[in-house]
Amino acid sequence: MRSLLLLLSRSGRLRRWIEASRLARRMASRFVAGDLLPDALAVGRRINGQGMFVTFDHLGENVTLVEEAAASREVYLRTLDEIAVSRMRANVSIKLTQFGMDVSEQACRANVEQLVCRAADLGSFVRVDMESSVYTTRTLALVTQLHERYGSVGTVIQAYLYRSRADIEALCERGIRVRLCKGAYLEPEEVAFRRKSEVDRNYIELMEILLTRGVYPAIATHDPRMIDATREFARRHDIPRNGFEFQMLYGIRRDLQRQLAAEDYRVRVYVPFGRAWYPYFMRRLAERPANVLFLAKNLLRN
Ligand code: FDA
Repeated sequence: MRSLLLLLSRSGRLRRWIEASRLARRMASRFVAGDLLPDALAVGRRINGQGMFVTFDHLGENVTLVEEAAASREVYLRTLDEIAVSRMRANVSIKLTQFGMDVSEQACRANVEQLVCRAADLGSFVRVDMESSVYTTRTLALVTQLHERYGSVGTVIQAYLYRSRADIEALCERGIRVRLCKGAYLEPEEVAFRRKSEVDRNYIELMEILLTRGVYPAIATHDPRMIDATREFARRHDIPRNGFEFQMLYGIRRDLQRQLAAEDYRVRVYVPFGRAWYPYFMRRLAERPANVLFLAKNLLRN
């Protein structure tokens, strides 16, 4: 089921059908703050008010025109400015394919550099999300270069990839901030663990490296077992609660988000906004088959 949904997340025809469905839109709104930046800022302010941090994601990926990439950059520049003006406790998360990686690597680099430079000026931070393994090497190379120059950028490592241990070691050595997640894309078995038990085991091993040697790591998961392992490891090694943060997605396990914040852990909520919600929504469905059955039954009925 997971593989099928991830495959369908690339289908243009299904995308048009799903995006036109009012039910799917309603379901997607559970995971997406709204179409526009003011919608996202309103959600962000509410989350800040609950004692949690935010990272904003303007939805969109795999753009095919340099103009689209430039438009994404502009939305993100505005987002950073708004965060600064309203003094929100927030930063931004971007995808390189949204900044033009598939069109022109040079244009992509220039777009990201502009954003990272603005973040440095504003004392903010840009997180470069990790997409499928086709982009891993290029993502790490770009982040490493920009980090050397500006500092205000970090990235994401996916526990399902075999290469991740080596990548984390290199990033820790360079003092680059890492968000650790399990990984959300369809990957061949030559590059990624298939079984959940293997991904979880690797997640815990990588979390321990990050908490010991990383710079302000982000432990991104809704899995109570991963969260408990992190809390336990931090307790045993006297790592203070403000030395790392938990991150979760908007609309998922709000109860757990609030509970951790109430226990004085740092929690950052990933808040997506924008009209291009289809691939993001499909990845969320792939993580929770119960959601899919509900959607499929109702779509077929309508
Ligand atoms: P797991 O999938 O095992 O889920 C554990 C439990 O969490 C489930 O039993 C359920 O209760 C709940 N849950 C998880 N997903 C749910 C959903 N969609 N709906 C309802 N409940 C759900 N991936 C990537 O490849 N690149 C990236 O850059 C990022 N960035 C990122 C940022 C942040 C802040 C988070 C939290 C996650 C990502 N991810 C990501 C996604 C990540 O790789 C992964 O797919 C999801 O977080 C689901 O994995 P869990 O760790 O939550 O565990």
